[in-house]
Amino acid sequence: MLSELEALLKENRLFSPSEDLMKNSNIQKWMAHYGITSYDELLQKAQNDPEWFWDELAQELEWYQPYENVLKWDPPHAEWFCGGKFNIVHNALDRHVKTWRKNKVAYIWEGESGQVKKLTYHDLHRKVNQMANALRGLGVKKGDRVSIYLPMILELPIAMLACAKIGAIHSVVFSGFWAKAFQERANDAKVKVAITVDGFYRRGKVIPLKENVDEVLDDIPSLETLIVVKHAGSPVHMKPGRDLWWEEIIHEQEKECITEPMDSEDPLFILYTSGTTGKPKGVVHVHGGYAVGIYTTLKLVFDLKDQDIWWCAADIGWITGHSYIVYAPLIMGVTSVMYEGAPDYPDPNRLWEIIEEYCVSVFYTAPTTIRLFMKYGEKWPQKHDLSSLRLLGSVGEPINPEAWMWYYKHVGNRQCPIMDTWWQTETGMQLITPLPITSLKPGSVVKPFPTIKADVVDNKGNPIGEGGGHLVIKTPWPSMFRTLYKDPDRYVDAYWSTFPGVYLSGDVARIDEDGYFWIQGRADDVLNVAGHRISTAEVESALVSYDAVAEAAVVGKPDQVKGEEICSFVTLKKGFDPSPRLKHLLREHVRREIGPIASPAFIGFVEDLPKTRSGKIMRRVIKAKVKGDDVGDITTLANPEAVDKLDHPL
Ligand code: WT7
Repeated sequence: MLSELEALLKENRLFSPSEDLMKNSNIQKWMAHYGITSYDELLQKAQNDPEWFWDELAQELEWYQPYENVLKWDPPHAEWFCGGKFNIVHNALDRHVKTWRKNKVAYIWEGESGQVKKLTYHDLHRKVNQMANALRGLGVKKGDRVSIYLPMILELPIAMLACAKIGAIHSVVFSGFWAKAFQERANDAKVKVAITVDGFYRRGKVIPLKENVDEVLDDIPSLETLIVVKHAGSPVHMKPGRDLWWEEIIHEQEKECITEPMDSEDPLFILYTSGTTGKPKGVVHVHGGYAVGIYTTLKLVFDLKDQDIWWCAADIGWITGHSYIVYAPLIMGVTSVMYEGAPDYPDPNRLWEIIEEYCVSVFYTAPTTIRLFMKYGEKWPQKHDLSSLRLLGSVGEPINPEAWMWYYKHVGNRQCPIMDTWWQTETGMQLITPLPITSLKPGSVVKPFPTIKADVVDNKGNPIGEGGGHLVIKTPWPSMFRTLYKDPDRYVDAYWSTFPGVYLSGDVARIDEDGYFWIQGRADDVLNVAGHRISTAEVESALVSYDAVAEAAVVGKPDQVKGEEICSFVTLKKGFDPSPRLKHLLREHVRREIGPIASPAFIGFVEDLPKTRSGKIMRRVIKAKVKGDDVGDITTLANPEAVDKLDHPL
């Protein structure tokens, strides 16, 4: 007998949003305004004239000075809304406090320990102004870099907005990374000021962030001031002349602050992400185009209206949070939920309780979270009234059809279409995604957003009719990254030179007979562990920086909940012997070097790693072995006997 899922997939059924949802959607209204009558017509018209599309949407935002051109495209360099004067914070806050929206709640924040805070647009505006004035008082000027190393507390968006307001460039470092990772990023960006917290809660434990960061602060030569938020009350040592309390520096600041008019193309932030080498890439986004891209997608993909309660359950330390917890929802003027802790803490009720408590209507999360709750079982969501939900979203990794169906049935009660959105740190906004008027297939990200030309090509760059290939984007989009910080050559080499003038995403995908896209995963040595992007090279370099380790090879192993888990093979230097204790020490070492998310699930000690005759570690072979696939031709290896020994680590 076929399982329900198999039956569904066989039937190749399409899931359509309800008539009501479609009819009242923002996209439907937008189309009606231009006399567009179908999804296909929309895609056609937008593709024929992308500048028309983006110009219309950019006009919905406020510009201090209008732009002269929508786009200058000199591949691979794009400038959008050239000549325009703009500040994203003017659009996210300043303009709202002049309207009724002033008293609308911007954020409902819930701490892991149950504490709740609500900030209206007016409250947020004031706090941002005070922090912006404080930063100016510390000598932070337009173009200066500020590192923000904060967990999911309200001071995080406040700090980001305060930087953007005065034209400083923020670089947020995910609070789950450890001090060394913070130091590396702060030094690359040569930050003048950094902002952190005494401690924060994770699964009932306090993580002492300030104490951790103290280890590296003396090795960040550009750093003049460290601002510390008091949150968990953990004991800290404040270094006189360098460390200041957040509360103390904002205390006497003016509640008004002039927003810096920026050029549309001025940098807004740097966000470091993993590439194929051990050195993270500083992805640079700008004020104008970024704002237009993320505003447009949140409005048209997630269909947010004034009465919605939006919960994007990501961490602001990643691009999802930058775009869809901080900037886009504020530009739209909606109410967002922000939650500090783990979704299943203290038990698997937590996530559903939050949706019920605040009447969340649009919910956006990652497949790993869905699979985690699938394992706990549907009895948990069933205990809660989730009827406020009308639309769901997924991001970060491919969602398997089983998880899609579970989400659809047990969370959305078959009433809520699922927007499975494909995008990246580099793209800034959702690029391949359904709209609330499109038919869905479980596991497919549907089609490119209006104006976006995406394709799947072979190694020579020729479009592939059937099967998997490189996912590429052939046209520019407003919120594309403009460069890699201080590394313009790597920007060109890593993304635009394999197929000149075409953006190489690093993913493998296929397009089906209906033109629907199916993302299959990364093509390069980048892992996706529970929606977190980690390069194998970074983990390897952390492992070999431990004095007992001679060599290390890291590959991803498929995992039912996390998508992938980190699997490492290590050879030891002479005089060191494998032991469970050494495994433990190595895990601890990687936690400190990168962060808990990079700690290998599996460490195997071996005498030898499979290598080519020129001495290159053959990760392809190790990967095949770990996945249980055929290892293929290994006759070119210098030491083929090492392959079987991977099955029996020491
Ligand atoms: C990589 C980008 C985009 C915000 C979160 C991750 C994978 C992302 C999907 C999706 C399948 C996806 C890709 C991509 N990915 N969304 N809907 N379906 N895969 O941002 O850390 O820059 O990672 O995440 O592999 O390249 P990121």
